[in-house]
Amino acid sequence: MAESITIIDNRNGESIEIPLLNGGVSATEWSKLLPGVWFYDPGFMSTAACESAITYLDGDAGILRYRGYPIEQLAEQSTYLEVAYLLLYGELPTTEQYAAWKNEITSHTFIHENVRKRFLDGFHYDAHPMGMLVSAVAALSTFYLDAKEIFDPESRNKQVIRLIAKMPTLAAAAHRFSVGMPFVYPDNSLDFAENFLSMLWKVAEPRFEANPVLAHALDVLFILHADHEQNCSTTAMRVVGSSHSDPYSATAAAAAALYGPRHGGANEAVIRMLTDIASIENVPDFIATVKSGQGQRLQGFGHRVYKSYDPRAKIVKRIAYEVFEVTGKNPLLDIALELEEIALADEYFTSRHLYPNVDFYSGLIYQAMGFPLEMFTVLFSIPRTVGWLAHWQEMLDQDSKIARPRQLYIGSEPRDYVSITAR
Ligand code: CMC
Repeated sequence: MAESITIIDNRNGESIEIPLLNGGVSATEWSKLLPGVWFYDPGFMSTAACESAITYLDGDAGILRYRGYPIEQLAEQSTYLEVAYLLLYGELPTTEQYAAWKNEITSHTFIHENVRKRFLDGFHYDAHPMGMLVSAVAALSTFYLDAKEIFDPESRNKQVIRLIAKMPTLAAAAHRFSVGMPFVYPDNSLDFAENFLSMLWKVAEPRFEANPVLAHALDVLFILHADHEQNCSTTAMRVVGSSHSDPYSATAAAAAALYGPRHGGANEAVIRMLTDIASIENVPDFIATVKSGQGQRLQGFGHRVYKSYDPRAKIVKRIAYEVFEVTGKNPLLDIALELEEIALADEYFTSRHLYPNVDFYSGLIYQAMGFPLEMFTVLFSIPRTVGWLAHWQEMLDQDSKIARPRQLYIGSEPRDYVSITAR
């Protein structure tokens, strides 16, 4: 059987056969037969905007792989920095490569004093840390003028390392500012997650000792959030990067996309929802309101791509129990479990293939660890920076076109300007 489709233009009987390649048909071929006839695809529901070798996702089967490696194995056996290397360079590092990589990241954790003292300290006292992070990342482009050299391999790699290394420092600085605590400088003798926890929680002790269970949980959450192929923020990264802007500006755009409650803001929304529900007895009424369409959606449920249980959600649920052993159980857990049980047995949710996504349980962990809700999306931004950068590099290496979709115009016909006094 031919792996192709044939399109016939019924207006004139002309046809074109287009091969099916990697599960897609080329829109360029389509345009040869039908120039000026556009695909109407709001939200890119049926559009593959690029070819990518980074992450494989099968939403029906609940499969997620980075560079071919199952997410379950990476979460169980790898570390966030190793996964970062894998996503960026395509292969797991050798012992020497890993040591050099860790050293590179560790030696770029400091931020310029002006970023903190002049820029971050200039925010209003109640600034949202995610807003601070988005702006601070964009501001970094003004400190590294070589960042514009995006086709110089050395310069490009340096910005990649800087961004990965400085993201936790900026995130922690935003947190400390929002709670009125002094900035803590990075401690480069610590691991990536431990150092982040030190910059967040250190008070007066000479050296912060992170709880190993919590540091490990954070590292696993970083692995799970590192990439998810063409999601909203990664698409923003590729779109902005396609105009050849510098990686700090493109990362700021990606982080801004992540900020929204339909994307990275969902775990914050989950906690607000669970807090509003307040007790297990209220769960059935809440579900009824969701189903009626009159209230909010069931936050942390549903996904554009996963039409079965999000494999990351399973791992997060397991990690949650490990964290609760240390922190004590998050009292909202019982409400979450009840919601999940009722929703998974309800035709409304099953018929729409709505299952828990990665955000359903991650917020419970962050809250139990002591993070304020405003920090949740910030915590997502740190590891997703790796995914954004991996896609940005891939896009540049593919010599991609500037992202510039078409529209179907539905506005006024031509009309003449009327002066303001005559309207
Ligand atoms: N609760 C109740 N109904 C839902 C939900 C939900 N969470 N999600 C989708 N639906 C319904 C929706 O009302 C629609 O029903 P109908 O066909 O009767 O109109 C149907 O399911 C399809 O919904 P959709 O909005 O067309 O689906 P989408 O693929 O555009 O949306 C989504 C995906 C993630 C935006 C959506 O499921 C949602 O809003 N979920 C809640 C927010 C959330 O948890 N987001 C985190 C996503 S995972 C992390 C990340 O990617 O950042």
